[in-house]
Amino acid sequence: MSDTRAQHEPMTALYPELAGKVAVVTGAARGMGARFTAALAARGVHVVGADIDEAGMLATARELAAELAGADKAGEIAGTRIDVTRPADHETVAQLALERFGRLDFWVNNAGIFPYATVGEITPEQISATLAVNVEGVLYGAQTAARHMEPGSAIVNMSSVSAVRIRRGRGAYCTSKAAVAHLTESLAVELGDRGIRVNAIAPGYIDTEMTRWVKEDPAALQHALDVVPLHRLGSPEEVVGPLLFLLSDSARYITGHSIAVDGGSRHV
Ligand SMILES: NC(=O)c1ccc[n+]([C@@H]2O[C@H](COP(=O)([O-])OP(=O)(O)OC[C@H]3O[C@@H](n4cnc5c(N)ncnc54)[C@H](O)[C@@H]3O)[C@@H](O)[C@H]2O)c1
Repeated sequence: MSDTRAQHEPMTALYPELAGKVAVVTGAARGMGARFTAALAARGVHVVGADIDEAGMLATARELAAELAGADKAGEIAGTRIDVTRPADHETVAQLALERFGRLDFWVNNAGIFPYATVGEITPEQISATLAVNVEGVLYGAQTAARHMEPGSAIVNMSSVSAVRIRRGRGAYCTSKAAVAHLTESLAVELGDRGIRVNAIAPGYIDTEMTRWVKEDPAALQHALDVVPLHRLGSPEEVVGPLLFLLSDSARYITGHSIAVDGGSRHV
């Protein structure tokens, strides 16, 4: 695997029109959600990062704010708790964004879980939890965001290459991400009436805690490196550019679309 520094360096796309906007990012205590929060704040977006891991979220918000302390015109970062399976929690987070920053422009439905179980063994609890977090969480986030957004606002949902490619032992997850892909399209059609865009990002293997098992299992890692056309895992920083693009004015006529960030793995 080529694991060059460049893959992990922040991308330089600026999108100055994002400055002064307000975003909510769920699942922001770590992984891609934390990098999204950092990248948005670096461009002057005020961000409410929300996660079920409240202590982790508050620590991440503090760390990211400290990193940006000397930066010119950085946005503020607030951390808070959310359980995305609970509609009322979404409203509480939206109210925090409105009270603290006065508006709501972007909502990133990023929180997700990735349980392992073959389809023959998956339990009722596993399928319910997976659909509750990965699908209902996106629906409640979008419903809440839409209640408070003005035309020109944007929602991004995290789907996955697993929406279109089957991974053994991940039947619940694949099903949930296929649902996110379809839900994104339904939301785009209906919220388009109000000038709100809804798109998705479909990552492949991105190097986070969620995929640590790949790096810890030599056979799984070798398989991933063999099948991914670019023959390496992606970094969270490599998903930031597509997120910023989808939120920016450059994507103002794009809705109901899913951008694959997967090194080509949806084709194999
Ligand atoms: N890492 C990958 O390779 C990959 C690939 C495709 C899609 N994705 C998707 O991207 C998103 C982010 O993935 P990641 O790799 O950064 O994951 P991660 O596991 O590093 O982070 C997920 C975050 O979501 C939070 N979370 C879980 N359940 C929650 C709940 N009920 N309410 C609120 N927060 C909750 C966790 O505490 C965690 O901080 C997920 O939706 C994931 O399914 C990841």
